[in-house]
Amino acid sequence: MKLIFSFLMLVALQVSGQPKVNEQRIEKHVLELAKIGIDSIGRNYRVAFSEADRQGRAYYMGLMKAAGLNVTIDYAGNIIGKRKGRNPQKKPIAFGSHIDMVPDGGNYDGVVGSMGGLEVIEVLKENNITTEHPLELIIFANEEGGTIGSMAMAGALKMEGLKVMTASGLTNYDGVRANGGDPEKISQAARKPGDYSAYLELHIEQGGILDQEKLQIGVVEGIVGIQHWEVTIEGFANHAGTTPMDKRQDALLAASKYVVAVNEAVKSFEGRQVGTVGKITALPGAYNVIPGKVIASLELRDLSSEKIAMVFKEIEKRAADIAKTSNVKISFRNLNVTSMPALMDKGIMAKISAVAKQLGYSQKTMQSGAGHDAQEMAHITRAGMIFIPSVGGISHSPKEFSKPSDMANGANVLLQTILMLDKE
Ligand code: GLV
Ligand code: MN
Ligand code: MN
Repeated sequence: MKLIFSFLMLVALQVSGQPKVNEQRIEKHVLELAKIGIDSIGRNYRVAFSEADRQGRAYYMGLMKAAGLNVTIDYAGNIIGKRKGRNPQKKPIAFGSHIDMVPDGGNYDGVVGSMGGLEVIEVLKENNITTEHPLELIIFANEEGGTIGSMAMAGALKMEGLKVMTASGLTNYDGVRANGGDPEKISQAARKPGDYSAYLELHIEQGGILDQEKLQIGVVEGIVGIQHWEVTIEGFANHAGTTPMDKRQDALLAASKYVVAVNEAVKSFEGRQVGTVGKITALPGAYNVIPGKVIASLELRDLSSEKIAMVFKEIEKRAADIAKTSNVKISFRNLNVTSMPALMDKGIMAKISAVAKQLGYSQKTMQSGAGHDAQEMAHITRAGMIFIPSVGGISHSPKEFSKPSDMANGANVLLQTILMLDKE
């Protein structure tokens, strides 16, 4: 009994003696950033490379500088805040996330990891702690458009990817330039394996598992791969009043069949793969014209690249059948913004789990169905991710929400995991 009591006292002492993050400050920063990027009709529109994105980045860089970081922008437009370590021979421990959002997105996706990372720096400063390793807090450019900034850092971004149009109306090429990078020199943004000691990312779960199971921390073991295609369906635009129903080449009608076919093809395989048609435009777009052309999207995700390739083949086959019976042409163009599936580092997972346990947080090991900058960073360094609950499992929506206490828990786990890695 006495022995158990002494052990509990020791653990309590260890935990109470550790520096803790400031929940109110994290919440304040999240809410302040949320005010930037609301458009004229009230939507959250801080999409990458927009004017609002630049305002958000300027706000964040101000916070980084006030926290004592040396702030630079790399050739890919990533914001990097550096803090010196005691031992410059050691490779930096990197951590961060993103502050761009999807059109009409939420205020927590990416932002929790960005503000949680900043909070780590604030706490180290307040407690006069200098780590052995240098630290780098990174805010990646255009995460939502296909992890563009982190892909460049991992040396995986091709010129084709830079040509892709983004929600801001700028291509990645022009957007990177607008955000202070240089697309012509983007290959120099690449870091080599071994340049970093590790990369950590705190993020909201974006699904409902932690919330439903009333757990506080998710230790991520793997992140799905993601591929995007632009799909063009070409029929023939003709008069909607004079063209008989059996003489039409209606591209939108074929597109409707394509949307259903994607859903059915994805579900025809065993497993957790997902596929979505999230974007569609019918041209010319008039009440009295049969749609002659449709531009649609296709996104496929799975932990295995082979599975994605297999599902895509099945979709192509079903699309060819639709094209034949609907008398249209259907073509797929891969957008070269592919994120490869990535496993997190087992050693880092063990550290995150040990820290969560020490801090008294309930936890589980889980996969990520959302893409993250960590999956690109995992190709050049050991990577780990910490998830916190998303209320109701809602994300990529203005209704996205995570409780301030959960944000603080996640930031405490991030802080202590960094300190544990620093002892290596
Ligand atoms: C990124 O948020 C993604 O999973 O699309
Ligand atoms: Mn995100
Ligand atoms: Mn997102």
